[in-house]
Amino acid sequence: MRVDYTIKPVETERIKELRFQVLWPHLSGPNECVIDPDKEEETFHMAAILNEEIIGTSTVIIDKNNAFPQADQYRLRAMATAPKVRGKGVGEKIIQAIISELKKRKCEILWCDARLTATGFYEKLGFKTEGKVYEVPNIGPHKLMYIEL
Ligand SMILES: CC(C)(COP(=O)(O)OP(=O)(O)OC[C@H]1O[C@@H](n2cnc3c(N)ncnc32)[C@H](O)[C@@H]1OP(=O)(O)O)[C@@H](O)C(=O)NCCC(=O)NCCS
Repeated sequence: MRVDYTIKPVETERIKELRFQVLWPHLSGPNECVIDPDKEEETFHMAAILNEEIIGTSTVIIDKNNAFPQADQYRLRAMATAPKVRGKGVGEKIIQAIISELKKRKCEILWCDARLTATGFYEKLGFKTEGKVYEVPNIGPHKLMYIEL
């Protein structure tokens, strides 16, 4: 099945439902699916939109991780695609759009706390892993991953 969608930045309001459905179902509802950095000026949410429906999203924030020497770092958060469109390249297109935007911002490195179940996805897109597996409460095992831009 071909999925015809657009990729563009959207407001926090539009991605809360998908965050709830896919990432944080242990919370009480979409309105709880916000993080403090959503409010920051440099933060953006790249989304895939099919007929007005958000079918994929990820949030990018400024956050320095001391594991990396680079000064200009961004962090990828809350990456999710709707189950009905998985494996069709939607996640990849979102990451490509994010990297394109970050190159304009002179970002040197993009990193994330990757769920162990998703490390294969990031590896396909050129991310590398750093350090050991660690546990994130309520979510599960993670690995630090990064891509130099
Ligand atoms: C991880 C996730 C975002 C991937 O989205 P997607 O739209 O299915 O990804 P794509 O179709 O763009 O996949 C791109 C490539 O990665 C591969 N891939 C996707 N998910 C994968 C996974 N979990 N493990 C290994 N490879 C994976 C695809 O097969 C594809 O490879 P190909 O180019 O050889 O066909 C999606 O599965 C998801 O939302 N999962 C639940 C939430 C989650 O774990 N988010 C990440 C939090 S860190």
